[in-house]
Amino acid sequence: MSNINPELKPFVLRKFAQSKNYPPINWSLNDLPKWLKNDIIQLRIASMKHEMGKIIFEKMCLTVNLEAEQFIQWLKGEYSIPYDEEEEILSSTHWAYYDYKPAADNFVKEFTEALSFDKLGINGKFSDETVWIGSPGAYTPCHYDSYGYNLHLQLKGTKRWILFPPETDLSPSRIPYEESTIYSLFDIIGGQLPSNGKQQQAYCTYLNEGDLLFIPPKWWHSVLCSEGDERCGGIFSVNKWFPLESDEEERKKECIVGCLASLIDRENENSIENQEEQFLHLDSIISEVLQIQQTKNQPINKKPRIENEKEEFGEKQMYEFYNKYKSVAEQISPMSFNELKNEISNKKFMVFKSEIKDTVIDDGKMRLIIPPEINELPYTENIRKLLNAFTHESTLENVLKLMQDEI
Ligand SMILES: [Fe+2]
Repeated sequence: MSNINPELKPFVLRKFAQSKNYPPINWSLNDLPKWLKNDIIQLRIASMKHEMGKIIFEKMCLTVNLEAEQFIQWLKGEYSIPYDEEEEILSSTHWAYYDYKPAADNFVKEFTEALSFDKLGINGKFSDETVWIGSPGAYTPCHYDSYGYNLHLQLKGTKRWILFPPETDLSPSRIPYEESTIYSLFDIIGGQLPSNGKQQQAYCTYLNEGDLLFIPPKWWHSVLCSEGDERCGGIFSVNKWFPLESDEEERKKECIVGCLASLIDRENENSIENQEEQFLHLDSIISEVLQIQQTKNQPINKKPRIENEKEEFGEKQMYEFYNKYKSVAEQISPMSFNELKNEISNKKFMVFKSEIKDTVIDDGKMRLIIPPEINELPYTENIRKLLNAFTHESTLENVLKLMQDEI
């Protein structure tokens, strides 16, 4: 893990957007339809009822297409999403997340440009700001990203961030497989933490309107939409990943992981049914790993790569940013795992209802709507262990070395 420096800690620049007159800080979520290229948006939806130990990974959520206008009304509690014949999805019983949406793909030019981090005085050649709009309770399970470092800017409502240093053992897993995302198997959102964590520390902070968070490379993070904004109850933020030189090495490892995941995971969009194609794909990945030749069909990384930005981005630029703002930023005080458990069960921010085992209750007509077939991931425990062993950091480093020695 070459790009980990224990000196780097997350920090918050409060009211950063206001101080830079960043235009989107004055936007209203009511205008969402005007920002979009398309009227219809895709949402991830899940119940507010949380069963302890059960992480709702992205793939386990219900996916719903909705008009942007209806989403805003739903956030305000003025619209219910029909589901099945008798059931409906309400913002009081479910959360919804319009997440991980590249601004350039989804927003019209004028609003994409206004969202650029250039407007914050943080230069970036590529316009790859990513937009997140959720309702209270929407969350991203605890994970860390393979590449780069991350700046996350809150624009509406409040988000709770729980961060752990890279060395924290949170049971990393590549299942479910998500390109460049390493999940923890601990249900951090539900307050589940490793019991051997006495000496370990967590960092928890709440981002409010205009606050910018610096997330150093490889830091674990569990992110929860905690409080909606006053006008429509939504939580809106924008982030940007910045590449590092060391991403190049990570990219080779990601290629191997993607290849192994595609062999195991038939449900995965990256898996290839046709065996001949699969071998061709495998071959191109190996070529890339070994850098024998550059292939045109490189796997698509959702996060920025270094490639043509070597001049402008990398470790040097990260430290410049870090040193420029560290002294004026709010440092996040570390807390023990016990303190973190208290924080998670803090009444003010506890958005989840108590744990449940049954699925047919509530007010008589509402059921837990996650359909059983997507409630569970299609892997056995043994498959998970196998893939995790093969994609372990030490295995990947060894594989890369052995492959390069072969030439
Ligand atoms: Fe992340």
